[in-house]
Amino acid sequence: MDPSRLAARLAEAGQSHLLQFWKELSPEEQSDLTFDLQGMDFQEINGFFQKAMETSSGSKQEKMDSRMEPVPREVLGSVTRDRERLKDWEEAGLRCISQSKVAVLLLAGGQGTRLGVSYPKGMYDVGLPSHKTLFEIQAQRILKLQQLAEQNHHVKSHVPWYIMTSGRTMEATKAYFSQHQYFGLDQNNVIFFQQGMLPAMDYEGKILLEKRGKLSMAPDGNGGLYRALGNQGIMEDMERRGVEFVHVYCVDNILVKVADPAFIGFCVKKGADCGAKVVEKTNPTEAVGVVCKVDGHYKVVEYSEITLATAEKRSADGRLLFNAGNVANHVFSFSFLRDVVEKYEPELQHHVAQKKIPYVDPEGRLVKPDKPNGIKMEKFVFDIFQFAKTFVVYEVLREDEFSPLKNADSQDAKDTPTTARHALMSLHHRWVLTAGGHFIDENGRHVPAIPRSGGAGSFSDDGKTNLKDGTDLPIKCEISPLVSYGGEGLEELVKGKEFQPNLMIDETGVHQLVKNGV
Ligand code: UD1
Repeated sequence: MDPSRLAARLAEAGQSHLLQFWKELSPEEQSDLTFDLQGMDFQEINGFFQKAMETSSGSKQEKMDSRMEPVPREVLGSVTRDRERLKDWEEAGLRCISQSKVAVLLLAGGQGTRLGVSYPKGMYDVGLPSHKTLFEIQAQRILKLQQLAEQNHHVKSHVPWYIMTSGRTMEATKAYFSQHQYFGLDQNNVIFFQQGMLPAMDYEGKILLEKRGKLSMAPDGNGGLYRALGNQGIMEDMERRGVEFVHVYCVDNILVKVADPAFIGFCVKKGADCGAKVVEKTNPTEAVGVVCKVDGHYKVVEYSEITLATAEKRSADGRLLFNAGNVANHVFSFSFLRDVVEKYEPELQHHVAQKKIPYVDPEGRLVKPDKPNGIKMEKFVFDIFQFAKTFVVYEVLREDEFSPLKNADSQDAKDTPTTARHALMSLHHRWVLTAGGHFIDENGRHVPAIPRSGGAGSFSDDGKTNLKDGTDLPIKCEISPLVSYGGEGLEELVKGKEFQPNLMIDETGVHQLVKNGV
């Protein structure tokens, strides 16, 4: 496109300032900027901005609070209250997996800003004895599930793994998987695709420049998933493979039960087209969204969208009224997902995040603002709940299934590498005890099975560990997902046996760790 046509398009959209440094750019910078601008639909972006600003106005948020109702009991399944049905659900889910009807879809397009790393979060090593990264742990859980399905149903099956990346994470993620030979998975069953990006804008709707010749762009939120599924041929790929259920989850939860058979089986048995996994939210200020109904439709109200007064409301039993804490872990039927992609996606509204966005001022200087100066627009993955015909909620235990990695380690930080590492090792410690193993101290005495209240290894419900940052658990125990997916199959390895506090169980056997290694 010649520069004058581009200038005319920008003028029409009120975005002419994007060419203000044109004459100072090198030919290469000019051609990059032209390339970026050509691909953008400014009318659409301006429309997104207007709608997003209207819906995010404060008065509407107040009204939303008064329209919220908790999840009704009849759509709720629980690993604690419905214990006797768990086996059934698990079997139903594993059967679907053995028929290759289940796919997993990982949301990994985020920028990991809070964690402060420049590479994709899935490549993060939280410091486990094995030094496995989040991607590797998840890959091994998929491998193990495929094995379990084969053992139970005597047929080889595959769980395709769709990985959504963004312009910020695509290349590094793909290279990492390739360097590690897809962690033993069949490369044809690991499918990468890329979500869209949107520009950051100031409060007047002007797109911000991050450099003189470069727009400030960010991924369009994890709800960018639905557009990407449609425009990158992913729905066709799923259809070709005969996928009927899709487990969608976030990259950052070290305890995530990828393609959890019990959760899938629960959704199947309930005939649900959409299911959300939750943990009980017990602290009003915890940074999790809550699943609830708004005007009769299921929704997640984000922690940033709820007022403190509503977050603090309690029911008669003393629990938080809105306690269905969203762990960003969902099951969708393929047909529901197809309806969303084909019909409902354009109806999804962008959410507005007010941010401090570095920008180039009219004099060409880079400004790093110390208070929010503009917005980023994002769609959210759970905004499609409202379109479900049968929606269910599945409640699990936080200590078994939810420990997200959001922030870097520091005093008082929540959801850090330390808390994630501790959560995984304390779960595995409990698996060994449940399977009949014991831990002994240096004097040969049994270490008490339940850590003292407030003592080592205990977690507060806001995601902080009660151990001082950097200190480690008295019992370190890591079990490879290739040995056990959810605590099963450990009796023959540990029953009646005594172990020193540093234990590693992997596919090569049971190892006592010496200080820093096996
Ligand atoms: C998310 C949930 C929140 C939940 C919390 C639990 C959303 C919108 N919010 O919040 O309700 O309580 O997790 O941990 O899901 N991502 C993309 N593309 C993007 C942005 C994010 O793929 O454009 C991915 C990230 O890589 C990550 C996931 O989405 O895997 C969640 O993103 P994050 O920004 O960490 O969400 P939270 O605000 O923590």
